[in-house]
This record gives sequence, C-alpha cells and structure tokens, in this order.
Amino acid sequence: MPITFDQEQKLFHLQTNNFSYYFIINEIGMLQHVYFGSPLEEIHLETLLNLGMDWSKTYFSSTEQKEKIYEGNLYTTHSLFEVPTFGYADKRISPIIMETSIDHKCDFRYVSHRIYQGKPSLKGQPHFKDSKNEASSLEVTLRDLTKNVTLILTYSIFENSGVLLRNTTLINNTNQSIFLKKVSSVTLDLPKKELILTHFPGGWSFERMVRQDELSEGIKRIVSNSGRSSHEHNPFFFLSEKTSDENQGDVYAFSHVYSGSFEAEFEVNQWGQTRVNLGINEEEFSFELKPNDIFDFPEGLLAYSSRGFGHLSRQLHDIIRDHLIKIPSMELKEKIILNSWEGCYLDFNTEKILSYIDQAKLIGTELFVLDDGWFINRNDDSNGLGDWIIDEAKIDLKKIINHCHDLNMKFGIWFEPEMINPRSNLYGEHPEYSVGNLNIDRALSRHQFPLDMTNPQVVDTIFAKMTAILDHYDIDYVKWDHNRSIDCAYSSYLKERNGEFYHRMVLGYYRLAELLTKRYPHILFQGCASGGGRFDLGSLFYFPEIWTSDETDPIQRLFIQYGTSYMYPLISVGAHVSKNAITSYATKGMIALFGTYGFEFDPNTLNEKDRSELNEINEIFHNYHQKVIAEGDFYRLSSPFTSNHFAIASISKDKSLGLVLFVNLLKEPREYRFLKIEGLDQNKRYYNSFDKQIYSGDYYHKIGLNFTRWFNEFEAILVILKEVK
Ligand code: DGJ
Repeated sequence: MPITFDQEQKLFHLQTNNFSYYFIINEIGMLQHVYFGSPLEEIHLETLLNLGMDWSKTYFSSTEQKEKIYEGNLYTTHSLFEVPTFGYADKRISPIIMETSIDHKCDFRYVSHRIYQGKPSLKGQPHFKDSKNEASSLEVTLRDLTKNVTLILTYSIFENSGVLLRNTTLINNTNQSIFLKKVSSVTLDLPKKELILTHFPGGWSFERMVRQDELSEGIKRIVSNSGRSSHEHNPFFFLSEKTSDENQGDVYAFSHVYSGSFEAEFEVNQWGQTRVNLGINEEEFSFELKPNDIFDFPEGLLAYSSRGFGHLSRQLHDIIRDHLIKIPSMELKEKIILNSWEGCYLDFNTEKILSYIDQAKLIGTELFVLDDGWFINRNDDSNGLGDWIIDEAKIDLKKIINHCHDLNMKFGIWFEPEMINPRSNLYGEHPEYSVGNLNIDRALSRHQFPLDMTNPQVVDTIFAKMTAILDHYDIDYVKWDHNRSIDCAYSSYLKERNGEFYHRMVLGYYRLAELLTKRYPHILFQGCASGGGRFDLGSLFYFPEIWTSDETDPIQRLFIQYGTSYMYPLISVGAHVSKNAITSYATKGMIALFGTYGFEFDPNTLNEKDRSELNEINEIFHNYHQKVIAEGDFYRLSSPFTSNHFAIASISKDKSLGLVLFVNLLKEPREYRFLKIEGLDQNKRYYNSFDKQIYSGDYYHKIGLNFTRWFNEFEAILVILKEVK
C-alpha cells in the first residue's frame, strides 16, 4: 500500500512513483505538514521540523494556569500545516473560515484515520473516478477544538501518478446553524520562497495566456468572480523553482474540480515560507449548514514533478484522460466535425444547411453540427433562449438529420441550457426563473439573463425541454454553451439563503449536466462558454471536450492552445479550421490537428486547392490523430510566448509514431538552427517526413532536425516520425 502510518512518530507517508508526501499528527492533534517532493524514504523529524524559535512554542495552559512549552516541534505561528487554523496564532491566510454564535475560530484536531484501497466519489459534484479500484486513500477525521464540527479530509493517490487528490467534508454536529465563509479545496505550506508562479490569465478570445511572476513577500490573490471559472483566469497554477524549465526542476501544480468563481492565494511570509490556498471565491459566499448538514468541498488537486513542466503536464493529461473524462465512444470522438457557426451564424434555412452538408462531405466531414439559431424567434441573439422549440418555418430538422445520415454523417446540435432571453415564452410565464431581483434594474449581457439554476424546478423545466428534442431526433453530439457571466446575483428561490447563490448555481449546472449525460450516454457533449470561459476540470467531468476559444485565427490559436496544454490534454481541446485568411488551409489544419480537429466555415466558399489541402490533413488525422495526439504524450518544444517559434510534439504511448508542429512567427533570416525533439525512444530509429532521413531517438533529442533556412511569417512545418525496425 503506497500509504503508510508510522504509529510511533505519528507520521503519514503517501508515496507514488513521482513523489512523497509526509505529514504528522502533532502533540496537540493538529496535522503538521512535513514534506512534498521527490520520493524520499528517510525522514528525520527532529531536524526537519526544527524552526529554532522557541518563543513560538510557548502557551498558557488553561488547565494548569501556567506558561508551558510544547515538547515537540509545534511552532504555533509558523509551522507548516495541513489544515491551518483560523483565529489562532498562525496569522497566514486561512483556508477555512466559519462563523457560529459560539466563536469564529477554526482549529481542527485529529480524531481518527483509516487507510483504504479506492477513492471517494462526490455526490452531485464532478470528481476523479477510480473505477478499477487502483487508488489508495487516507481519510483523516478531525474535530474542531471548541465546537462539535467534524472535518473529514481524504487524500487519494495513484501509484504511477504525480497527482494527489484532496476531498474535504465538513459536518455540523452542533445544534445550531454555522455559516461557512471560506472553503479551500487545496492548501499547501511549502518551506520555500522566491518561487515562480505560472498562471493563465486572458479574456474573451485570448484565453489562457502564459504568465510567470516571481512571488515575493505578501499575498498574491487571483480570482474569478463571474460565476464561472472564467476567461480572465483559469483555476490552475504552477509553482516552480527559478531554474525549473520544461525538462527539469521542481514544479508543483494546483487546481480544483470546479466550474464556478474561485480564488487562489499565494502568501510568502517573513520566515521564507509559501502558503497556497485554492477554493471557491469567498466574495458573496456564506453557506448555511443547519444541524447535521454536510458540506462537500469541490475536489482539490495537487501535483508534483521533479522533472519540469513538461513531465508534470503529461502526468496531468494522463490522469484527466484516465480518471476524469468519459468518452461515449472513441469512434464518435474521432470524427471530423463541421460546425455551422462561423459559416452562417444565425442566418440560415433548410436549403442553406443542406448545401453545407453536401459541401462538407467533399472535405471529409463525418459529423455536422448545427449551432445557434434553430429554435423559434432566433434570427438574432435577442430572442428565444429558454424555449427550445424548433423553428419549423426556418429549419426542417428531420430532413437535415436524414440528409446527414444518407451521407453517412452524424448530426449534432447547439443548446445554451442555463440562459433565458426576456423575450421568450418562458420568461413571460416565469420571470422569477431568471437570476436577479425582479424589482430593480438588472444588467443584461447579450440580451440575456442567466437562469436560476439554484431552483430545482428550473433545472427540471430545462431538462424536460431538452429531452423533448433529444428523445425525438437522432442526435449524436451536443454543444453546450454559456454566453454570459453571472452578475446581479440574486435568486427568488433561495431568498434569505442568497449567500449560497453562486455555489448553488454551479451545483444546478452539474445536476442538469448529470441528468443529460446519464440519459444520453451515447451523445458526445462539447462544453463551451463564449469560447473558453468554462474550460475547467469540473466541466470536463461531464463534457470530454471544450471549445477552447472563439478566436479561430490560427496564429492567435498557437498561444491559446499552448497555454491550455499546461493542464488539459489535447483530446479535450476543441479546435477547428476557420475561414480566417491569415494562413493557408494546410497551416490552419495542422494547428487544429493538435486539438480535436474539425471545421467551422461555409464549405461553399472553398476552392479546389483549399479542399485538397484539407483532404491531405484529413488523411494525417485519420492515420495518426487518435494514437499520437488524442492518446499520446505531449511535449512543448518552443514557446511562442518567449521565442519566435512555436514548436510542439506528440508521441504515441508506444513511442512508434510522432507528430511535430513547428510554426515560425515573424519572418526570420537563415540561421544555423536545429529543432530538437523530445519524447522519442533513444534506442529506436525513426524516419522523418521533413528531410526524409532516418535517425535514432537519441539523435533527434540531442541534435534534432536541421532547420537552417529562411522562414516566412507564419510558415508551418508538420513532421511525421515513424519508427523503422
Ligand atoms: C459562443 C460560442 O463560443 C460560439 O462558438 C457559438 O456557439 C456562439 N456562442 C453561438 O451563439
């Protein structure tokens, strides 16, 4: 069992092939963090935990009424903790805050623990799964010092992974209400400072840019408060040493399995320590727990690699593919899609769509997706959301689906389930289903309000409307959109419990997603939120792919897809070739290939040359995509954020095949330069489609391909590598 407990030292050790994680139960029952890093067998607690400041070990004993000193290694102000206190001597930012009429303190002490095979699942919330019972878990039960409030903390690990999952449950065993004010799914104290924080800010059409800042004394706080994980910041972060890079050095990752507003805090204190908290945004959060109520925190994720960012990303990709996302069938997942949105927006009719389908067939489309605009009153975006009734005057859905099937194509459709236009029948009947106080002016965005997903009746109503379509038409794919952030937060349903609004909105989203994905296990769902505004682990649990960004300009996409790759596997990265004129269709195709691949334009506008370029990429897609990109290992070779070159590689798990994409940014003169390729088997030999030579994996890694030549703006080279026996 990779989790052990040393009774004498009261020391827990969670060990995988990639890390050791140690903590102790100290003399007063607090959980003290000891070590998180490279696998380590030997621990000397006396020296490791000695912070040398004895004044911080003194306390006044309430029973003996005199000053005493802790015998062990507890420094009340600055030891490293697993569950830091609130309101005691540790003045760093606290991960959990609750208010009660007894006191406002949080100080959880050990009660019991158990180690078991398997991993807990979370009811009603997304989580990593362990269907083959491969994980090991440690569950520690703690109780608050002054109140009968129980905290159950579970750590789960997979032997071959660098990822540690953390579940937290809080139970109110008092006889009065308590109010949760802050809940962090991840908290970690590191005995280090001057770490580099890598984070992923952005906005609509430029999601997940890569930024690196050195942490210094004080608190850095990164939040989303828009009711979704957001375009502005993504809920995943890395901390690394200054010297760490793609291929070497200590790197830690943090995230949570959640789609709502979040906050991440990084505090560096005077003692050269760094604390990280990550959880639900505490702004406008006040969650009431009545006696015996239970609160499950969103699942937290911590990860570590001593082998740099690239290795850590591959660890994350593997666990997300193996234990988080559900794919209805690989056959469906690997179909070439054409989505109607950028081709015609809302302006279409049956004839136009039939012509799209015919033309789409010529470029190998296997699944046609009808985006926004098929339901009543939807000729512009100010109408219709919430009704979900087919506009039969505009579109003959049966005919379109039959036409797809005649051409051996699957059919998919768009919904925006969590939204309502004030100009809709549903709003006329139930204005209170929309978010906000109906008696005051409310901000609109894209002419729509969010639906009040905290209200189960709303979820049931939308579910019924969607099943009325999905039950009666042969639909294999659903694009699930969400086109505005949440503001004017108020639920007529929650009334005095509106402090729970934001979190319950997320739970309502999860409930609807669960109802639909369970009812239609054969349907492939694509998540979307004005592009990539809800690209997070929570959404990925229900939707195995997410529309990465509304920006389909291929060069901008290089940056967006590069940032996204730090956490999310390419199989989940929605990427389509669009009309954007900046590069050839071949280049656009190569870039989309390193995502889900597909098209998003009016196929009637293509000429012979465009079609033939796309058909060439299609061939590569069919021959290599699943094995090399969808299921393979991903390597970042050169960053467009720090150089003039974008270069990435994907290598099949058995290391027999590889695809490398190089894109030059600004025009560059001839220079003696080589592109080194990571991830191949050093001892195997590979033919490459660039200079058509055969070299060993070792040579590709140490010398690489000779790229000494002029490069034009946005020139792209796709190299195929094949093992030669
Ligand atoms: C925003 C999405 O990101 C687009 O792809 C498209 O589906 C539109 N919404 C439709 O309104």
